[in-house]
Amino acid sequence: MEITITKTTNPKKKPDKNNLVFGTVFTDHMFIMDYEEKRGWYNPRIVPYGPLQLEPACMVFHYAQETFEGLKAYKTKEGKIQLFRIQDNMKRLNQSNERLCIPKIDVDLAVEAIKTLVKVDQDWIPKMEGTSLYIRPFVIGTDNKIGVRPSSTYKFMVILSPVGSYYKEGIRPTKIYVEDKYVRAVPGGVGYAKTGGNYAASLKAQKEAKEKGYSEVLWLDGQQRKYVEEVGTSNAFFIVDGVAYTSPLQGSILAGITRNTTITLLKEMGIQVREERFTVDQLFQWHEEGKLEEAFATGTAAVISPIGQLGWKDKVAIINNFEIGKISQKIYDSITGIQNGTLEDKYHWITQLS
Ligand code: COI
Repeated sequence: MEITITKTTNPKKKPDKNNLVFGTVFTDHMFIMDYEEKRGWYNPRIVPYGPLQLEPACMVFHYAQETFEGLKAYKTKEGKIQLFRIQDNMKRLNQSNERLCIPKIDVDLAVEAIKTLVKVDQDWIPKMEGTSLYIRPFVIGTDNKIGVRPSSTYKFMVILSPVGSYYKEGIRPTKIYVEDKYVRAVPGGVGYAKTGGNYAASLKAQKEAKEKGYSEVLWLDGQQRKYVEEVGTSNAFFIVDGVAYTSPLQGSILAGITRNTTITLLKEMGIQVREERFTVDQLFQWHEEGKLEEAFATGTAAVISPIGQLGWKDKVAIINNFEIGKISQKIYDSITGIQNGTLEDKYHWITQLS
């Protein structure tokens, strides 16, 4: 299928590259492709970024039949454009689609769409350290019907946003609250899918954590509320006596691509990685025994975000004197080095745009 391109006649002013935050500014163009049951996916096109016209009865507004992804494009010192693990993101989009009864999208077509869009808006890719062009592909059900059933029409869209750090702290340690009242996901639910509803359901916990002075929450499992699962928008790693612990992929947490990257890089550093369940009691006990050396969250948006403090009920654990740990820093440097082209891409994670 050929992707048509209609360029804007009214390019926007680019944001100040020294003050980029996460996800508030969008580029000049977007990608759209439609789906109808009888035709499949059709009309892939790049058009000027702008509002959509959708009826109030549009299904996504009512029942949240939606999936999304997040990945990034970088510009190397030599001016080459690089995408990180794009195939993996598009495969994961289809896994989320399968769970939400959304038709799959051809991975090669989705990759081509993103490459073409990024090329059209390449002048928006920021170059400063810690910045990138965030790519947000998403799919919405668009039938104008309010009976509860899968939509028969969809839109797959991609928008782009030049970004700085996800957390205002940047790579400085954050404070994370262990959520003891609300749950995010249960086995058999949609916890592993990247779907808006998971994030809507997390907002109240995040809001209450912020009121207590924390940046995000650490979720516990939804059944017994004792096993550590993931941070609000990222996976979580804990270095205990030199061993890295992270919760296993059992259906309730997101199979993070940065999580997978981190596991690969930790192993390369000779660090043992244990993907196994552990309780929050155990975590605080490790801390009391002086064994909890580092903790960090991993995600596309957050990259590596060190955790400097954990709060849980009336307990507080300060980790590594609220400083970024050696392993966290090394993983951050390795990932960002591969992404921006200063380190070798041994694992073939990079797609370069020609
Ligand atoms: C990402 O890390 O790309 C995410 O999708 C998290 C997000 C909800 C900001």
